[in-house]
Amino acid sequence: MADTTLERNPTTPFAQGTPPPVPEKPVAPGTKIIPLSDPELLPDQTVNFLELIELRATVRQYSDVPLTFKELSYLLWCTQGVKMGLPNCGSARNVPSAGGRHAFETYLYIQHVQGLHPGLYRYLAFEHALLPLSTDEAAGEQFRSAFRAKNMTANNAVTFVWAAVLERMTNRFGTRAYRYLFLDAGHVCQNLYLAAQTIKTGVCAIGAFSDDKLNQALGLDGKAEFAVYAASVGRI
Ligand SMILES: Cc1cc2nc3c(=O)[nH]c(=O)nc-3n(C[C@H](O)[C@H](O)[C@H](O)COP(=O)(O)O)c2cc1C
Repeated sequence: MADTTLERNPTTPFAQGTPPPVPEKPVAPGTKIIPLSDPELLPDQTVNFLELIELRATVRQYSDVPLTFKELSYLLWCTQGVKMGLPNCGSARNVPSAGGRHAFETYLYIQHVQGLHPGLYRYLAFEHALLPLSTDEAAGEQFRSAFRAKNMTANNAVTFVWAAVLERMTNRFGTRAYRYLFLDAGHVCQNLYLAAQTIKTGVCAIGAFSDDKLNQALGLDGKAEFAVYAASVGRI
């Protein structure tokens, strides 16, 4: 904590003239991506807000009824959807983020979602689309082996992983960025809990994973980009 105080960060790379990094990991031109359902057409139920808050609870066991494509689109929109880009590579999204930096990339290991092959995907927040990464079963095994709660991740509809691209936050905040990444992650997962609840879907936040195994399974170096938080999602 002492290394991340404001006093330890009297200036920052951004203040010193280092331009901010791009706000999303690039995708090679011509790569096939899968557009998600238009946010205008997503479920828009009227809810009793207090009841929603009070009924929220972690769910670790799921039925084998798949999520629909539209429901997955909804969960992604509610957790990381981009409302607009902002100057200096920031963005306004459906969750708050320190300085509007939004350092996360969302990785998904999909098992039961209608219309999608099981496998590893990345959410392209600015395009509101999915980038398929791997449908290799061995890659799935490697992914699942990173989690302590193996039963949960073996049987769910989808596992979300939020991985931080560190420089997106350090550019603006120096070492204090380390705090903000973890604070940001809490907001994202809370939106997942609440959004899922509106569509009768269960969520379990997951902090118990092997950093090395999960980073490796996602092809991340664990330094410039690393998994921060995860969540299991499945139909109740
Ligand atoms: C930061 C964080 C990490 C968590 N990690 C795990 C986990 O690895 N495995 C698990 O089964 N539950 C995990 N949980 C869920 C908590 O155990 C759960 O929120 C807590 O028991 C309270 O229950 P509730 O969510 O139903 O109120 C985590 C929750 C948070 C906030």
